Amino acid sequence: MKKYLVIGNPINHSLSPKLHNYWFKENNIDAVYEKKQVNEIDLEKIIFDIRNGKIDGINVTVPFKKSVIPFLDKIEIPEKTQSVNTIYIEKTIKGSNKIIGRNTDILGFKYSLERIKYNPRGKKIFILGAGGVTSSIIYALEEMEPSNIILSNRTKEKAENLKKLFPQIELAEWGEIKNFDMIINTTSLGLKENDKLPINFDKIEPGKIFYDVIYNPKKTNFLLEAEKYGHQIENGKMMFIYQAQEAFRLFSINSNVWQGLLPSINEKVLQLLEND
Ligand code: ATR
Repeated sequence: MKKYLVIGNPINHSLSPKLHNYWFKENNIDAVYEKKQVNEIDLEKIIFDIRNGKIDGINVTVPFKKSVIPFLDKIEIPEKTQSVNTIYIEKTIKGSNKIIGRNTDILGFKYSLERIKYNPRGKKIFILGAGGVTSSIIYALEEMEPSNIILSNRTKEKAENLKKLFPQIELAEWGEIKNFDMIINTTSLGLKENDKLPINFDKIEPGKIFYDVIYNPKKTNFLLEAEKYGHQIENGKMMFIYQAQEAFRLFSINSNVWQGLLPSINEKVLQLLEND
């Protein structure tokens, strides 16, 4: 039986096992997907377990998407994202196996916008946060050619570091909301019930899009408030599902049992994540 894992800290909220196990079952694949809370010190051992065949692949979530990189043999990601969320072993005929790190968040974000038929081209995009997933979102957006990408983070230094990688982004002070067409929350503020982002909704013109990468809870205060003001809202559920679908495909390409399978995103899959 193949074994897959999602690692992070905290990890309890992750719905990855639910989704991947559903896809395994649907496709009669003899595999199991679990979640594991780990610390930085455990990363090397976990990667070693992929090398020796105990684990067949892992997904990585907050806060290890960057710190896992030194333990990999090869990263097939856009360099400036510095973010790996999918790891597997690539077996070659010669036997020179390699541990590969990939990033499926970029695709996940892009597909989530396509699904709601939103084209950022020529639009002003405001990003809140500079955490693990932010660089993937900026990278995806860059290719979609918005007119502006403005970023604001509580810790200014982290925003400045991102600007070094993506020089075209503009920075705003934390709490300062510039004019935008779409605003994206990439911070973890919203995971807890009382979390509130510093936004004065009275000052925002109608008809904007509010996007939160958080999918659990379904509607953070950021989205609830935006909805009250009549803005379009979108949570991180579709981004999450698309990144998982791509991770599943990558796992399957590199598995000698169930090669190259793109699992379906149907009503059942969407419903599966609603019941939590
Ligand atoms: P990491 O920073 O380890 O990658 P993350 O969960 O991906 O972790 O990112 C956390 C993001 O949420 C950061 O942008 C963080 O801001 P700081 O860089 O200032 O820490 C933001 N964040 C978390 N709690 C916050 C809070 N109470 N107020 C404002 N921003 C917060």
